[in-house]
Amino acid sequence: MKLLEGKNAIITGASRGIGRGIAKVFAENGANVAFTYSSSVEAAEELEQELTKLGVKAKAYKSNAASFEEAQDLISKVTEDFSSIDILINNAGITKDNLLMRMSEEDFDKVIEVNLKSIFNMTKAVQRTMLKQRYGSIINMSSVVGVKGNAGQSNYAASKAGIIGFSKSMALELGSRNIRTNVIAPGFIETEMTAKLDEKTVQGWRENIPLKRGGSPEDIANACVFLGSDLSGYITGQVINVDGGMLT
Ligand SMILES: NC(=O)c1ccc[n+]([C@@H]2O[C@H](COP(=O)([O-])OP(=O)(O)OC[C@H]3O[C@@H](n4cnc5c(N)ncnc54)[C@H](OP(=O)(O)O)[C@@H]3O)[C@@H](O)[C@H]2O)c1
Repeated sequence: MKLLEGKNAIITGASRGIGRGIAKVFAENGANVAFTYSSSVEAAEELEQELTKLGVKAKAYKSNAASFEEAQDLISKVTEDFSSIDILINNAGITKDNLLMRMSEEDFDKVIEVNLKSIFNMTKAVQRTMLKQRYGSIINMSSVVGVKGNAGQSNYAASKAGIIGFSKSMALELGSRNIRTNVIAPGFIETEMTAKLDEKTVQGWRENIPLKRGGSPEDIANACVFLGSDLSGYITGQVINVDGGMLT
């Protein structure tokens, strides 16, 4: 029996990087996968086909996670298409790095909207379905940077720290209805997001990781399988660092 057999999952921002890795590992573990993207239409269509070939139901939706209305619309479409939503993974995220001195108000607001407000939007939209089912697992993507801060990323760190507070509050609000909310704090994961960093910075990150390597999207996906499955049925309100020991 596959760990996620028969479960319906929705993953935001799965056209690339960590989200794409989660979608594939979820499908390999038997989950039906609804996923969103922002602008990468071709990559999303290709992923939809790849997942379908694994024998599960899969569908891509273009939806801006930062928009409250689009999140509402998305969840009603997914509920109609898949009939239930067992797992929500709030993964979509962006960076707009700069030292505070040079950071614009626009770049601060944009990162908070896409990374943090999106989680409010999606959780509020999915809540009704999960409450009716009396079942659900919500997994929110934070970052080591949300736990320890990072120079040049005050907007990103604030959004990722906010995710932890929001998630712990949801664990308290929704636990009595068997809806679990947990957080994953990835360390340095090799995706397009981190490919933007210069080689010297990347080398510095790698040297400080006890396991001496960057993580892969699959490393994060495996933790999501655990948190999405009934193996973690008694775990809620927790932050799991998947970071090669970076925060040790
Ligand atoms: N990579 C790391 O080292 C690392 C470390 C810690 C935490 N994280 C977190 O992990 C998550 C995924 O990161 P990643 O490295 O995989 O990033 P990535 O490679 O840049 O991919 C980002 C994904 O999010 C989607 N997206 C962006 N804005 C969106 C919006 N407004 N609405 C819906 N989807 C949107 C993108 O869609 P399009 O392709 O259509 O643009 C893409 O699928 C993020 O929350 C990030 O903060 C990453």
